[in-house]
Amino acid sequence: MKSSAVPNFFKLSIDERVAVLREFLGLSEEETLILKKLCTLGFNELEAIGENPISNYELPLRIANYFKINGTDYFIPMVVEEASVVAGACYGAKLCYKNGGIKSLVVENSKYSKAIGQIQLIRVENPQEAERKILENKKHLIEKANEGHRHSRAYDIKTRHYMANGERMLIVDIYINPGDAMGAAVASQMAESVAKEISKFTSIPYNACIISNYSGRHVKAEARIYVKDLARKSVSGKLWTGEEVRDGIVWLSRWAENDVYRAATHNKGIMNGVDAVALATGQDWRAIESANHVFAMRNGGYKPLSKWRSEGDYLIGELELLIPCGIVGGEIRKLRKAEFALRKILRVKSADELAEIMAAVGLAQNLAALSMLATIGLKEGHEPHRKISK
Ligand code: MEV
Repeated sequence: MKSSAVPNFFKLSIDERVAVLREFLGLSEEETLILKKLCTLGFNELEAIGENPISNYELPLRIANYFKINGTDYFIPMVVEEASVVAGACYGAKLCYKNGGIKSLVVENSKYSKAIGQIQLIRVENPQEAERKILENKKHLIEKANEGHRHSRAYDIKTRHYMANGERMLIVDIYINPGDAMGAAVASQMAESVAKEISKFTSIPYNACIISNYSGRHVKAEARIYVKDLARKSVSGKLWTGEEVRDGIVWLSRWAENDVYRAATHNKGIMNGVDAVALATGQDWRAIESANHVFAMRNGGYKPLSKWRSEGDYLIGELELLIPCGIVGGEIRKLRKAEFALRKILRVKSADELAEIMAAVGLAQNLAALSMLATIGLKEGHEPHRKISK
């Protein structure tokens, strides 16, 4: 029987790995050639990226325009298979552009940490006593965490304990400002050095050290759209006044507030934009997704990440997100197009600026989706892009 249990598969060259697959899958020479012909990296370059590559995988790198964020104009790089996502981002951004663009700022002194390193201490007989010792030594532990780090700073330590199967575990959270890095590597490193130190003075064993993905740059974005600008026409000539579109958007927002089935789709529309920028700039988009799974539940129940309301002649949209992202470290260096997108297209100067851009794109994307749903509907909303792509 054919088997995928190939020992040392990772040690094989790309050609050898493809040969194994070819035999297992019964592929023709021509079929396997697609991997080589469509690979845009030299095989040496691909090998350097590491771990079992057989080719690389292309998604379109697109550009969204009409983005003015905090007074600065940007062309936004977005990697996404679906053309309508970028069309939507441009549509939403254009509505905001007319009123000075989108305001998007990382929250100063947020209670959400940009990165958190976690330690799990297990079989803790007296958690209160252990917590007391840890907190008494907080200053020393923070110094230990910061040893050898120039750009990232641990600044606080908190503890919590839980009962599991009749035994107690103690969780130690290290709050970190990772500078311009996303912070995953630094969070684990800091957690390990703190865990070793805690074990010295408590004799409690630690089981694991890892980043908490419920962390990231806490960003608030806001858009104000003049109601008259929201007016819209379908291909069949049906017209919606700005007031009608505004009301439709506000009703959609209320629906998402009250119904988790709708809230999930509402948030998906936001993440369409955020993830596309994350992919284009070489970010760990799974981390952004998981941070916001929990963030959407921060008040107990699952909620939309944005809200829309009417205020005088304006429609106001507000979005809050946690964006774990970085402009140094991670995989960015290895991904030349991601580096290009970050440094040459966006020209961001800090990870905070990148987070602010991502939140602004999420808000514009959301506005476009809600305007489309309240007027022409999804089918027509996607139609022109399908035609173009034919
Ligand atoms: C589709 O990718 C995204 C939308 O479903 C978002 C929404 O419903 O708000 C259009």
